[in-house]
Amino acid sequence: MIIAVDGPAASGKGTIARALAQHYGLPHLDTGLLYRAVAANVARLELDGAIEADAVAACDFDEALLDDPILRSDAIGSLASVVSAHPLVRAALFHRQKRFAYQPGGAVLDGRDIGTVIAPDADAKLFIRATPNIRAKRRHAELRAHGSTISLDKVLADIRARDLRDSTRSNAPLVPANDAALLDTSFLSIEASVQRAIAIVEARL
Ligand code: C5P
Repeated sequence: MIIAVDGPAASGKGTIARALAQHYGLPHLDTGLLYRAVAANVARLELDGAIEADAVAACDFDEALLDDPILRSDAIGSLASVVSAHPLVRAALFHRQKRFAYQPGGAVLDGRDIGTVIAPDADAKLFIRATPNIRAKRRHAELRAHGSTISLDKVLADIRARDLRDSTRSNAPLVPANDAALLDTSFLSIEASVQRAIAIVEARL
């Protein structure tokens, strides 16, 4: 069973994907981390993420980087959205995600293009949404809890910029797959969101 969970930043897709993986006993891949690792490598190597050749050179990152807390920062999230717009960066990360999705027994993946590009024939596809203001508040609280002093206005501006970049790029833009179930978590608790997500998956099996 392959479950695809897509949606914008701080929509709740990561939390929902992890809960679904646990519920169904499936391995989970947060594909955003791969793009974040490329972004962190661009920064480490002092390259320019807006230049495709630079971003491609950063795709060969050390696996240990995936566990580095630096990947969670807002700056790396924004740079990830810049490097992920390059077709050659997406191509470099494509097979790894595809292999993970189609491993024996199935998997849960979350990202932006899982239901449209990585696993178009997934058994269940969810597209998670929430208003930009609510997503900014969630991300702000999370960043503050990790010691950041970033303002709510800055987080909201970053989220809007990232939404725009992710949904207007020509290659694998952030759009719901035609057959994805939409789940708006704006006014739902985490528990309620997870219950709805499980109900959606159950209805598709
Ligand atoms: O989900 P997360 O916020 O960690 O993703 C960081 C960035 O990586 C996104 O803003 C998006 O540009 C990119 N991304 C992507 N495709 C994915 C996952 C993430 O383009 N499947």
